[in-house]
Amino acid sequence: MSTADEMHGTRRDFIYYATAGAGAVVTGAAVWPLVNQMNPSADVLALASIRVDVSTVSPGTQLTVLWQGKPVFIRHRTEDEIALARAQDADLAQLPDPLSRNANGTGADPALDANRAIALPEGSGEPEGSWLVQMGVCTHLGCVPLGEAGDFGGWFCPCHGSHYDASGRIRKGPAPENLPIPVSSFVDDATIQLG
Ligand code: FES
Repeated sequence: MSTADEMHGTRRDFIYYATAGAGAVVTGAAVWPLVNQMNPSADVLALASIRVDVSTVSPGTQLTVLWQGKPVFIRHRTEDEIALARAQDADLAQLPDPLSRNANGTGADPALDANRAIALPEGSGEPEGSWLVQMGVCTHLGCVPLGEAGDFGGWFCPCHGSHYDASGRIRKGPAPENLPIPVSSFVDDATIQLG
């Protein structure tokens, strides 16, 4: 399990760091009220971009950071998770939300996993789709979904029972849209920039 890593940019960039791993994911729903109580100052909320060191986020774990007042899930997926997400592409037509919701594209691309996973840095050597970066905010009423939970090998929002798959796409429950993919990119092998 990872511990807090260096955040680049100003010292105020870092306001919340849940840590990697299933334990952190499980605490997601409980942590959110605490985050709200932290009342990050306006300058922190306004930060257009932050850089996150993901060098210690091993496959099968997730890092949660707070960006612009909202949690962002940075998941380093295993090959099995990638395979599951790609297999789940098969019934795209039945999805409640057929769009990728990826701010790095038009957002209106089909919700294929390849259209949601972040582009890897050149020569990374990792399998395509190894990283999934998405807003950790349920598209129903804004709760923080739990990771490695639900009926589809992805995330589950316990507030009203929304199930997201291994690509963060809504499969079951009242949430109307897939978890949104924020503007994000690798700036080097170990650093993801949000915004
Ligand atoms: S807020 Fe997630 S299901 Fe209602």
